[in-house]
Amino acid sequence: FAASYNTLTGEKPLVVAHRGASGYLPEETLGSYELSMQMGADLIEPDLQLTRDGHLVAMHDSTLTRTTNVEDLFATRNGNYYVKDFTLAEIKSLTVQPTGALSRPDSTYPGFTPSMADPYKVPTFAEVLDLLSAYNDANGTRIGIYPESKAPHDATKNALIVQTLKDKGFSDAEDRVILQTFSKESVADLADLIAGHDVSAEIAQLGAVRVQDGLFGVRGSDGFSSLSQIAAVATGVGVSASGITREFIAEAHALGLKVHAYTFRPLSQEEAIAMITPFLDWGLDGFFTDYTDFGRTAVDSY
Ligand code: G3P
Ligand code: CA
Repeated sequence: FAASYNTLTGEKPLVVAHRGASGYLPEETLGSYELSMQMGADLIEPDLQLTRDGHLVAMHDSTLTRTTNVEDLFATRNGNYYVKDFTLAEIKSLTVQPTGALSRPDSTYPGFTPSMADPYKVPTFAEVLDLLSAYNDANGTRIGIYPESKAPHDATKNALIVQTLKDKGFSDAEDRVILQTFSKESVADLADLIAGHDVSAEIAQLGAVRVQDGLFGVRGSDGFSSLSQIAAVATGVGVSASGITREFIAEAHALGLKVHAYTFRPLSQEEAIAMITPFLDWGLDGFFTDYTDFGRTAVDSY
């Protein structure tokens, strides 16, 4: 085993449960998050959308169609089934279903019994935080939260994310909060909000690795930012693994930025080690994976 890590801080790289244990159970549900914590996640990742009546829910897409039975229950409602057009009560009537991306088709995982009554409903952000607190308290763990304010930029949504963290007691450094967004406008907004609410959180600019005018940077949903521009407002970048090089990580580290990669989807322990180890050699600080268990193995066997 390596004695140390090439990460910015020298600490162990972080395994982020991308939408929970989303390779196994319906994504962004309490059941999926609970399984990912049992599998050794360092942080759990919800994507956050606003409902029509102003609640934050864990949902990747801007519409409900891919992951829920909305078309069955609301067949008479014409349109694209946007989250923002449904109330929380309506969304709570839905069930999150296995998608084609799942390795398991039936919302079960061997040996796993969800602790909650309705594990595959769409949870609010507050419910995800409550589950995380309860799990940490019961198990003596310090699993963190990596919420994404889904682009496009929305000041109301950003403010509610930070307020909810504050209300639920996730405001100290030991709570391990990392905020993320593809929108550079939201990155700046979130930096202001956490300062204003006295919330201790890291912030990651998401996007694809790009070089512009000879400078490494990230292209998000609203344009390119150089790494030095990002370093002025954020603590790290979350970038598509396909664009990451040793040089990119070295440049980011030189500017004090952590580098997290999305999204690793290995289908075995062996594949995880082969896929992820080269990035750990380069100093990757953490990564998102749909397969928490395999990601855990890759880091722990490094
Ligand atoms: O947030 C990192 C990664 O999740 C970005 O991709 O589309 O799965 O949110 P996406
Ligand atoms: Ca995400």
